[in-house]
Amino acid sequence: MNKLSVNHLLGIKQISKSDIELILNTAKNFKEVLNRPIKKVPSLRDITIANLFFENSTRTRLSFELAQKRLSADVINFSASSSSVKKGETLVDTVNNILAMKVDMIVMRHSSPGAAVFLSKKIKAKIVNAGDGAHEHPTQALLDAFSIQEKLGDLKGKKIVIVGDILHSRVALSNIFCLQKMGAKIKVCGPLTLIPKYIESLGVEVETDLRKALEWCDVANMLRIQLERQDIKYFPSLREYSMLYGLDKTLLNSLSKKIIIMHPGPINRGVEITSDVADSDQSIILDQVENGVAVRMAVMFLLAGKQ
Ligand code: CP
Repeated sequence: MNKLSVNHLLGIKQISKSDIELILNTAKNFKEVLNRPIKKVPSLRDITIANLFFENSTRTRLSFELAQKRLSADVINFSASSSSVKKGETLVDTVNNILAMKVDMIVMRHSSPGAAVFLSKKIKAKIVNAGDGAHEHPTQALLDAFSIQEKLGDLKGKKIVIVGDILHSRVALSNIFCLQKMGAKIKVCGPLTLIPKYIESLGVEVETDLRKALEWCDVANMLRIQLERQDIKYFPSLREYSMLYGLDKTLLNSLSKKIIIMHPGPINRGVEITSDVADSDQSIILDQVENGVAVRMAVMFLLAGKQ
């Protein structure tokens, strides 16, 4: 199979194991291109892509834009804070006006869960979900899977623990869907107030003791506490959270084996991980960012080729 089964990348839930394998294998080829002196290929020449960011982003926005430029696409960027959304224009009107300028693909980050699915029913262009509220962040999960595979090989049977604010995390949900489809085993770890009640119905185990979770895993994905999405207090203080669920070098070095440390960013240094862990040789945080460009090139290349 060299074609995706979907016309949009709305979430990992909607794609198959074969789709994930196709994206990861295509990304491997694009990573090789990115390591050449000339990093640009003509694959998306004459394709126009609009990046619509209704919510803040550093990594995802820049990574998509760079991926588009490496593929020779024409790129336009929209940020809600400086747009006519501020004058009351709706999402569908905004996007239809952008599409009237002959745009072929939309990359969208939005604070509302389901925004990308909603849009896919209203417009004709291809859509890539760059994060929708606390729902899904499919390209983050794909770049995470790519980065683990690059370090440990086949994902089947690998043990991954996702630590922290699972309740408000689109990264957690997309990672669970993606890694499970690839045969990995997943645990989540954190205070029970930050773990959704439905999580075990996804085939995920819950561990509230960080040391036990770390002793079990091959990879720990340390999530940021998303204070901007927390309407009530889920734990007494950041200091207490950090004492129970923060990873420092003493704890990391005391484990019986060397595990891999991941973080989707942005990091709250000293809260979920200390600087010496984030910058250690066990951390692949910057590899994740590097791999994001190749993975997003693969996603947009494959979607553009789908009629
Ligand atoms: N990982 C991630 O989505 O980071 P940004 O919010 O900076 O895009």
